[in-house]
Amino acid sequence: MSPKGGAAFEAAKRKRPWYYSRPRLLATCLLFVGLWTWLNIGGNEILIPESSFEYLKDESLRDILNTTLGFQKIFVLNLPFRTDRRDAMSLSAAISNIKLEFVDGVTGASINQKAYPPPEENIKHLAGIRGKDDVDWDIRVRQNLQRFAFASRVLSSSHDLFATSPNLKSHVEYQSNTETEDTAFQIIDTKNLPKTLPSLPLSSTRSTFSQQYNKGEGPYGDPTKWDILWLGHCGAGMPRDPQAHPTSLKHHTPVSPSNLILTNLNDDTVPVGRHIKAHPFQGGPDALATAFPPHTRIYHRSTGGELCTVGYAVSQRGARRLLHQFGIKGWNGIFDSEMGRWCAGEDPDMGPSYAKPDPVKKKKQKERVCVTSQPPIFAHHHPMQGESDIGGLGGGYARKYETKYLRYSVRMNLERLVQGKGERELEDQWPDEEE
Ligand SMILES: *[C@@H]1O[C@H](CO)[C@@H](O)[C@H](O)[C@H]1NC(C)=O
Repeated sequence: MSPKGGAAFEAAKRKRPWYYSRPRLLATCLLFVGLWTWLNIGGNEILIPESSFEYLKDESLRDILNTTLGFQKIFVLNLPFRTDRRDAMSLSAAISNIKLEFVDGVTGASINQKAYPPPEENIKHLAGIRGKDDVDWDIRVRQNLQRFAFASRVLSSSHDLFATSPNLKSHVEYQSNTETEDTAFQIIDTKNLPKTLPSLPLSSTRSTFSQQYNKGEGPYGDPTKWDILWLGHCGAGMPRDPQAHPTSLKHHTPVSPSNLILTNLNDDTVPVGRHIKAHPFQGGPDALATAFPPHTRIYHRSTGGELCTVGYAVSQRGARRLLHQFGIKGWNGIFDSEMGRWCAGEDPDMGPSYAKPDPVKKKKQKERVCVTSQPPIFAHHHPMQGESDIGGLGGGYARKYETKYLRYSVRMNLERLVQGKGERELEDQWPDEEE
């Protein structure tokens, strides 16, 4: 500023003392207050963007953009002799800017028989232990996880959602459950299937996101309140209220965190119904396809059974509980279905020489908080020529080159991705139109 201009300014200032401009000052302040309110409250109206490629602009979700997806570490179980799989995983991870730590898996033959958890039959079962190094994800994995994180905060919270926001109750919708005794997961009782599925749009719970968030807890909600985030699976049962009496299931069951479903409608990462299958041998699509409109992603607790430990996050609380149950008390079966039963509140059936769990005691004590999404965010990739080491669920071995559930699969697009093709030039594995 020139000295001359400065003088003029001084003069102007002297002529009109500061308090004369109070109305203008007030107006300016109001403008800023208004802008702040609009940005912080009005802005939240579009908290979940329509485009599945778009990130959420919420400070509490920023850590999901880091190289460990907002978790402390990501481990991959790899059988040391399957270097082919390790290479494919490393490359996919590098492309997605994800940092992995490989852990050597063991085959049954290398475990000392004395080290097996009870009961004795485990020696037979564990021999089939497998690598989980054939995991795949959509190129929008961080976008998916950001939306999941909001859901996980609500679903794992110890606060009653409807007590904090009573008007939410009127937004609950009841979809008919399309699971049947045949299609539901047989790992738990299929006779008490819920008739209706209470659901709420994820976006309607947004006022509780911030209440559910404390800095330092990480983006997925308080890890002292959840055990497992089951992000990669090959099918999850619709959630249930374990307290509900079977005869009351004809009517609307009371909504609780155990059976509430949060929905994200028009999510383009979700294929249309006919593609929503866990494996090529599956007859009809998953119940998700018939119970909800096309392109709906749902989030809920794993209280209806779940299969395949393709990818999951464990909190310290969860790790302690799993170690206690499966390392010390014992288990009997295949690990993923045992974890599915555990999340649904069931204890392992240890066979005839062990006491049956007391059903009354069981319902009171064992609240386990496992949160999942359908379709899964991580899925099993069936590689080009490889026969999987894992028997397919329907009997045979998986032979098709594909990844179920994922549209812009990283593994299916590796070639294009290394050639530097942009996000929108990739192949959609499960397009809406008929081929
Ligand atoms: C990513 O974020 C999580 C959650 O805040 C944090 O624990 C982790 O250390 C971060 N990882 C990296 C590599 O920054």
